[in-house]
Amino acid sequence: MSDVMLEVKNLTTKYVTRFHEDVYAVDHVSLKIERGKSLGIAGESGCGKSTLALSLMGYYFPPLHYMSGDIIIDGKNISGMDPDKVRRTVLGTEIAYIPQAAMNALNPTRKIRKFIEDVILAHDPKVSKKDIYELAQNRFAELGLPVEALDKHAVELSGGMKQRVVIAISTILRPKVLIADEPSSALDVTSQKMVIKMLRDMMDKGMIQAMIFITHELPLLYNVTDDIMVMYAGQIVERGSAKEMVFDPVHPYSRGLMNSILVPEEGTRSVKLTAIPGTPPNLKNPPAGCRFAERCRYAKPECRYNQMPIIDFAPGRTYRCGTSVEELRELYRKEDEMNAAEASSDTGAADGPVRLTKGV
Ligand SMILES: Nc1ncnc2c1ncn2[C@@H]1O[C@H](COP(=O)(O)OP(=O)(O)OP(=O)(O)O)[C@@H](O)[C@H]1O
Ligand code: SF4
Ligand SMILES: [Mg+2]
Repeated sequence: MSDVMLEVKNLTTKYVTRFHEDVYAVDHVSLKIERGKSLGIAGESGCGKSTLALSLMGYYFPPLHYMSGDIIIDGKNISGMDPDKVRRTVLGTEIAYIPQAAMNALNPTRKIRKFIEDVILAHDPKVSKKDIYELAQNRFAELGLPVEALDKHAVELSGGMKQRVVIAISTILRPKVLIADEPSSALDVTSQKMVIKMLRDMMDKGMIQAMIFITHELPLLYNVTDDIMVMYAGQIVERGSAKEMVFDPVHPYSRGLMNSILVPEEGTRSVKLTAIPGTPPNLKNPPAGCRFAERCRYAKPECRYNQMPIIDFAPGRTYRCGTSVEELRELYRKEDEMNAAEASSDTGAADGPVRLTKGV
């Protein structure tokens, strides 16, 4: 038994489009998650979060292709494993993935217990339906879900309940690692909280050993995961503890993400909301230098030509940028001072700067 539940070394995967173009959506990604820990992955749309999640399952079929790197789950290297073996011995037990919008993909005319039967019988065809039903009832009770939901059709459940049921179905075989891709995005705030609480309870009760929670909203991850990793254009650009990433983001893109999203909750700090200009680069032909250079307000000429390696700059903290941490922090300090001065001189006129409280 290893203390590292998931270790990924230099994983590169690509899509090959029907026009035979390569899209490098996961580019030399490395990460580690220890037993009992959770990792949040944040980044804008198209940054490669879902592709990374799919790639971590080790189950590749076109247009997604494995290129290089290692995926080690609880000491077992699954990279390069035959897809059929992955399906039989890895999916659902070692690692499970709840895809984006999974709750909307449930066939509305089938009862929930039928989905659970499918998952268990695909793993072990000899289990009786009576045993499956008993297991499902116990699991629903353990997770605080109404047992009657097992005999309902997906269409009869509310959005929040449907999502919690999807999580229960996906984890019925107690996977060691669970990847939840935007599990709370389409839900109202109350249902979001219930989904997040359920995932945390599953971690606390040891039903899952490690979790990856994907979202495009970096601040949402505060209080949800232990660590946060920010992805941009297929690469990791920063990683740190949730607190460090929310209160002291170092990479200009992480700071941009923090300053561009408003969370509708009681806040602990006030920031001026600023959108990141532009859009992420096309991954068919990514920029030669720093991939964020086109949109970075601190870019220097050399940023466009130099490949930026990922660097450890403090225990548990890494970033990918050519500007030193000290220089970036000094730039941010000056910017925050200017914003604070602007706010204090703000008379509340309609055309003054908008200041909002951000719940982090
Ligand atoms: N089937 C596919 N074929 C080719 N390219 C694809 C395919 N699916 C995704 N991509 C491309 O891969 C890149 C990463 O997409 P991905 O869906 O992983 O991003 P994401 O971060 O999950 O975005 P979102 O927040 O919108 O879910 C994008 O450039 C996208 O256009
Ligand atoms: S390397 Fe340059 S362009 Fe890229 S994030 Fe750092 S400062 Fe900005
Ligand atoms: Mg996605």
